[in-house]
Amino acid sequence: MDDILKKAESENFTYDKILSSMCTIPHPVAVRAHLRFIHSNLGDPALFPGTKKLEDETVSMIGSLFHLKRAYGYLTSGGTESNIQAVRAYRNLLSVEKPNIVVPQSAHFSFDKISDLLKIEVRKARLNREYQVDSDSVRSLLDENTVCIVGIAGTTEFGQIDPIEELSEIAEENKIPLHVDAAFGGLIIPFLSGSPKFDFQLSGVTSVSVDPHKMGMSTIPSGCLIFRRKKYLDALKIPTPYLVSKEQYSLSGTRPGASAAATYAVLSHLGWKGLKKIVERCIRLTQFLLEKTSEVGIFPVVEPRMNVVALKVPKPKKVAERLSDRGWKISITRKPVSLRLVIMPHVKRENLQIFISDLSDVVRDIRSGD
Ligand SMILES: Cc1ncc(COP(=O)(O)O)c(C=O)c1O
Repeated sequence: MDDILKKAESENFTYDKILSSMCTIPHPVAVRAHLRFIHSNLGDPALFPGTKKLEDETVSMIGSLFHLKRAYGYLTSGGTESNIQAVRAYRNLLSVEKPNIVVPQSAHFSFDKISDLLKIEVRKARLNREYQVDSDSVRSLLDENTVCIVGIAGTTEFGQIDPIEELSEIAEENKIPLHVDAAFGGLIIPFLSGSPKFDFQLSGVTSVSVDPHKMGMSTIPSGCLIFRRKKYLDALKIPTPYLVSKEQYSLSGTRPGASAAATYAVLSHLGWKGLKKIVERCIRLTQFLLEKTSEVGIFPVVEPRMNVVALKVPKPKKVAERLSDRGWKISITRKPVSLRLVIMPHVKRENLQIFISDLSDVVRDIRSGD
């Protein structure tokens, strides 16, 4: 058996060459806590009240980072579940016959799952030149059947931040809930100077999701969904007659208490100061990458707002393939097609230097028609 596991392990790519992932190597404090709580099931929290306290404490810590005195939410399996559940709550509360939601064209593909699962029309609003959602386009797509507007704080492909302040005004004017998908940016934006408001400071924002298994250094799976009001969380409540606990709010039944313990442990251990340092290092490395690539005539599609970079290169798919031959795992954006890199905490400066040299070789060859 061990041989089989070893073989499977050896077939995986290691993080030193992964430049496309929004996940990273979890902090050792998170790993230790995860192992310690490996058997606890938050599907039936009445059996694991200690783990439940850690979950509640984590939701409340993240809630206060997002300027909410009393947070209502739970730890999800990640951004996908958080988005599904936010939309489900609003659909349940505002029961209309043919519900729709308005999301940016840049929305994560979890919204396509939402359309399929919840049978909701997902209307996609245009982006502006900075790849942020155009608020006029959002306005034009709303109608009496719109149950939710979505804004993104840290888009998956370009790392941009939608004008959440404008979306918040639109949401309030039209009395429609506003969900902010901050799966990636939620644990970055609070630590960047001069960043726009994106959270509960804006009175139209009714929910925010963020993934500690991305920039929060926690173990997988760890997402967090927070609502401004209890009534939204209550819209997800299902009675659980055969459990010791009386009700459930989560999408999955059995769910890992281990991730809750890991997330609580790592966020408490680092504190916001410690996490800020990690974020700042990623941003410095991103700046380094941009300086070096600009020296060889490679520029970003749009000025990065965080540690996600989309680079304009000739024949991006070919570039990605050739880089893959050299072991680098990077991805491609859809529109425009470009090379997408995410500079996560596992990225080391020395590795980035080697990558930049490989990238400039590959691009030079392609430019010269090779
Ligand atoms: C903005 C955004 N939302 C949601 C998700 C989905 O997160 P997960 O893969 O953890 O479900 C991602 C993942 O990259 C994301 O970038």
